[in-house]
Amino acid sequence: MEASTCTRCALAESRTQVVFGTGDPAADVVFVGEAPGAEEDRQGLPFVGRSGQLLDRLMQEEMGMRRGEGVYILNTLRCRPPGNRDPQPEEIDACWPWLEAQLDLIQPKVVVTLGNFSTKLLLKTKLGITKLRGRSYPWRDGVLVPTYHPAAVLRSGGGPMAQMRADLVRAKQASLGAPPTDLTVPT
Ligand code: URA
Repeated sequence: MEASTCTRCALAESRTQVVFGTGDPAADVVFVGEAPGAEEDRQGLPFVGRSGQLLDRLMQEEMGMRRGEGVYILNTLRCRPPGNRDPQPEEIDACWPWLEAQLDLIQPKVVVTLGNFSTKLLLKTKLGITKLRGRSYPWRDGVLVPTYHPAAVLRSGGGPMAQMRADLVRAKQASLGAPPTDLTVPT
């Protein structure tokens, strides 16, 4: 089945279009967010609204990277939940084969998870982002660096912004070969 016509969950009925992902297929670094918002649903591209502008800025300032150049951007869900509500467990399950196939193809050295949904999904843990961030973990053949979702940083500002910057520096170091800080993921 093609992703653009996916009907694996009910979001197919309310979305404008599927937001598959964007970037360099040979990327070393992949960011995984939550789900498309209104602007992403309209343009068909991930992280093109306010959260995306912050992500682009921090990626540039802390990692010296730009989307499309060694970076790929994905989401946990490929379709917008109505009113930007939280992704539901059955939607996350339904969308997982797409995310898994994309990660299999890209084979990134570093995965940066943005917020609770992608972090819990990829690290297979119930712990929240505030407990998990600030560290890095082995993931497949690479390293996973969890950090806050940029929308949360936009809401809360200063402290979380500085923490997200530090996490992105950690991700850059991992892309240059630094090993994970932790060998196991707390559950
Ligand atoms: N928030 C996300 O998690 N993903 C997007 O693509 C946009 C906003």
